[in-house]
Amino acid sequence: VNPRARIARTDWTFPWFIGAALLVAVAGGFTLALLLPLAQLEGWDWGARWPALVQAHGHLQVVGWAGLFVAGMAFRLVPRFAAQPLRFAWLTPVVLALLLAGLMGRTIAQPWLNKPGMHALLIGSGLSESVAASLFALSIGATLARATRTLSVAPLFLLGCVGLLGQALLGVAWLSRLTPSLPVISDQRDEVLLGLQFYGFLLPFVLGVSLRALPAFFKHRAPGSFELWGLAGLLAAGSTIGVGSLLLGNGSMAMRARDIAAVLTASAMLGAFFETGVWKPPLGLRPSARPAALLIRTAYLWLLVASVLLASGGVAGVIDGLAMPPYLDDAIRHILALGVFSTSIAAMAQLLLPLLAQRRLQRRAAQREIWILWALFTLATTLRMLGALLQAGSAAADSFGFIALSGLVGMSGVLYLASTMVAAIRRPPAEILLQEIRRP
Ligand code: HEM
Repeated sequence: VNPRARIARTDWTFPWFIGAALLVAVAGGFTLALLLPLAQLEGWDWGARWPALVQAHGHLQVVGWAGLFVAGMAFRLVPRFAAQPLRFAWLTPVVLALLLAGLMGRTIAQPWLNKPGMHALLIGSGLSESVAASLFALSIGATLARATRTLSVAPLFLLGCVGLLGQALLGVAWLSRLTPSLPVISDQRDEVLLGLQFYGFLLPFVLGVSLRALPAFFKHRAPGSFELWGLAGLLAAGSTIGVGSLLLGNGSMAMRARDIAAVLTASAMLGAFFETGVWKPPLGLRPSARPAALLIRTAYLWLLVASVLLASGGVAGVIDGLAMPPYLDDAIRHILALGVFSTSIAAMAQLLLPLLAQRRLQRRAAQREIWILWALFTLATTLRMLGALLQAGSAAADSFGFIALSGLVGMSGVLYLASTMVAAIRRPPAEILLQEIRRP
């Protein structure tokens, strides 16, 4: 078989990963994003179910919305970047099914842990995700193994695989200890788990794709393997120190360790920003694709904001030996989640999905779509950030109003993104061709 054909093979599960990400976002993660602040505003008494549903929301969004998109894209892009056929390609539908089963089990079992059979379902969901993460890491890792010398972003992808697996294994270990009266992972463990998910899994994958593609789009010097190993090393060190801090108990030593991890992570984020060239004109993109630069630049501006907040919180914490305040953690997390990850997903969808690529023929429609996506995701990020930061001051009572509004706008963004994709799939190629011919 021609190796080129094997590398570029179309994986039939790809649209299923993207569709599943959108479905989990709409039916799960963003629905909870709306219900959780509403419950606070309206005074609905959910008891211990509220914090359990917060953790379910976080997991649905991180592993479902962003994670399924990342996994689908990784299966598609890593072989092309590495110029190697995907190893164990038959595993892709297994990974998808196990991830979905894990997400569903977790969302049902954790908030309803007082019902019969739910403890077993919770453990089963964690195991399902752990097996999925192992198989994903096996397939992507084996594909990359032959390309570590030629593909300079390989260390970021390898770190992402380790991060996904690490968080799944720690997750199942900690979920198995939950009880009906306390159905939430403790704050300290949860913070470590979320650190691993954001800075050890999602960020490395997003940066890996970005640092491979953006320097070409913006005609910037491509980062060398020294810089990329350095970035991956900083992120890996941050994650390792974060996990290691659990061995230090919960005194000021442990907090200082986590603050140092935050500073290392922030410096990697800052370094990555300067390797992209997003401030230059996007001359490497075809003129018809250039409007998408707005989404890319916005995502990287949010990365800059998140890295400054993370660095300042980390440095302040190292100096006074305190933990990062929860409202700041929450703000940084959602700036990344909505401003960087969700906005990048919208940009990727506009640039890379082959079905949508056909849409670019109708230039004005594509431009309008990008403006709407930009407005919705930017507004959702801003409102969510304000909602988090307000918790620090005297206006805490207003914060859930901002957060609920952000949930509504975020949900509209995801629904709109899904609708642009469905429209692109539905539009018959002949129609596109006719429009092209009719153009003066
Ligand atoms: C507009 C959309 C969103 C809204 C309104 C929203 C709202 C919330 C709320 C109310 C909380 C609980 C905060 C608290 O403990 O007081 C939360 C936590 C969280 N959210 Fe979101 N969220 C949104 C989008 C996202 C996205 C896209 C992601 C990830 C990709 C995400 C990840 C998380 C995580 C990881 C947590 C912490 C979970 C934990 O404590 O274990 N959120 N969110």
